Amino acid sequence: MLQFITKLFLERIYYKRKYKKEIYMLLPKIIIGAQWGDEGKGKIVDYLAKGADYIVRFNGGNNAGHTVVYKGEKFPLSLLPSGVLWKKKLLIAQGVVINPKILLAEIEHFTKRGNPPNLTIDPRVNIVMPYHQLLDAATEEAKGAQKVGSLKLGIGYCYEDRNNREGIRFEDFINPKLFKEKLFAIFPQKKKRIEAVFGYKVKMTAPDIYQEYKKYASRLSRYKGDVSSIVAKNINKKKILFEGAHGTFLDANFGTYPYTTAVNTISGSVFSFVGFPPQNLMVYGIVKAYTTRVGGGPFPTELFDETGIQIGDKGVEFGTVSKRRRRCGWLDIPMLKLANELNGFEYLVVTKLDVLTGLKTLKIATHHFLNGKKVSHFPSLLSDVSKLQPHYRTLSGWTQDIANIRRFHDLPENCKKYIKTFESLMGIPIRFISVGPERSALISV
Ligand code: GDP
Ligand code: IMO
Ligand code: MG
Repeated sequence: MLQFITKLFLERIYYKRKYKKEIYMLLPKIIIGAQWGDEGKGKIVDYLAKGADYIVRFNGGNNAGHTVVYKGEKFPLSLLPSGVLWKKKLLIAQGVVINPKILLAEIEHFTKRGNPPNLTIDPRVNIVMPYHQLLDAATEEAKGAQKVGSLKLGIGYCYEDRNNREGIRFEDFINPKLFKEKLFAIFPQKKKRIEAVFGYKVKMTAPDIYQEYKKYASRLSRYKGDVSSIVAKNINKKKILFEGAHGTFLDANFGTYPYTTAVNTISGSVFSFVGFPPQNLMVYGIVKAYTTRVGGGPFPTELFDETGIQIGDKGVEFGTVSKRRRRCGWLDIPMLKLANELNGFEYLVVTKLDVLTGLKTLKIATHHFLNGKKVSHFPSLLSDVSKLQPHYRTLSGWTQDIANIRRFHDLPENCKKYIKTFESLMGIPIRFISVGPERSALISV
């Protein structure tokens, strides 16, 4: 009798799960970095892009570096959506800021390979101008020890102009008369600011910038299209995959401010950054099997010993864009639970699990101590985050190479235990496990 009831119960759970899975298959998907960026979003977007009609990049600029590896070839992308290899419809929404030179180089790269991107750029996208980069570099220099660790690509200043209504939008940019008018009006103020506030001599002139940038504009003008409208019309008809840049803790408001980027990175921002109504999305939280951070700011589970160096070397933890060594540390449950609170993850995807192979022991921070008191909720105040003392659960490692394993069942016992422990601490199902940079190095759970 007991057996019969158990069977019925299990069947019910299975049916519910299957049903849920089928319903969720129809929902638009969104990829969000759960940590400080570089979680492997590019790889997962590339993998999921196979089943999508549209891939939409919705935030950030070329300070993002998303890597796709296919058949041994590496494709670092900073502005083109990571579905580019699938020849799908690629959309760049208004929440993105574009450095035209960099975008053109990416377009050219794929065009030369016989894969010209089928790209649409929203007219409201803001353009990163050379004076944004000068301001970024000057500010970082002036901040000295307090510097954010910005990539100095002008992204923050481009968002400043966008929010303060001084930006040059894509639609202005591709209209030579309007572009010239705006540039010639804005540039003298920027030059004055850089020279008077920071004491630099600005050599570039508005006519020089105009001559160079109008060429970029004429090459990009063919890509103009209303991304907001395309998405709003197709959201319930076509399969749409949204690609988030950066990571939850780099979010301009909810991250470890001011050691963040200048834009929102959490899932809800997609609605205003693309321009379509709030609705249910299937949110995938991408989590590296350990934690990394590049640039300044607190990092409670950071490793300062040999293990940190070993993980960094094995994981090739060097910035895709900046080439800087990334700081490495253990997984942090309170931090990831806050990421879930902010994003609403339906599933987690664990990446770079292969990097942990060979470590004798592994640790996961289950909670922290703050001023001697146990805290389970990751604090919002930066000075509190800086003082957190992690409390770890220690697990045994594994030595068997897992890079060629494609079924969860075949993973070494301790490796399965690490994943299961993480999943149960999070209380969110893990959908995929990545065990190598290649598209195919993925375990579907
Ligand atoms: P993103 O910014 O989140 O797209 O991540 P990045 O591309 O900046 O950094 C992730 C790096 O890890 C890239 O070099 C990827 O090719 C690589 N990568 C992704 N998944 C895996 C994995 O499962 N194992 C290993 N060893 N490398 C991976
Ligand atoms: P992806 O999309 C990792 C970090 C920078 C710096 C801070 C501010 O590849 O995961 P900014 O140039 O925005 O002024 O820099 O934010 N940062 C990232 N770190 N991955 C990223 O993007 C990042 N984007 C910004 O290193 O500390
Ligand atoms: Mg990256």
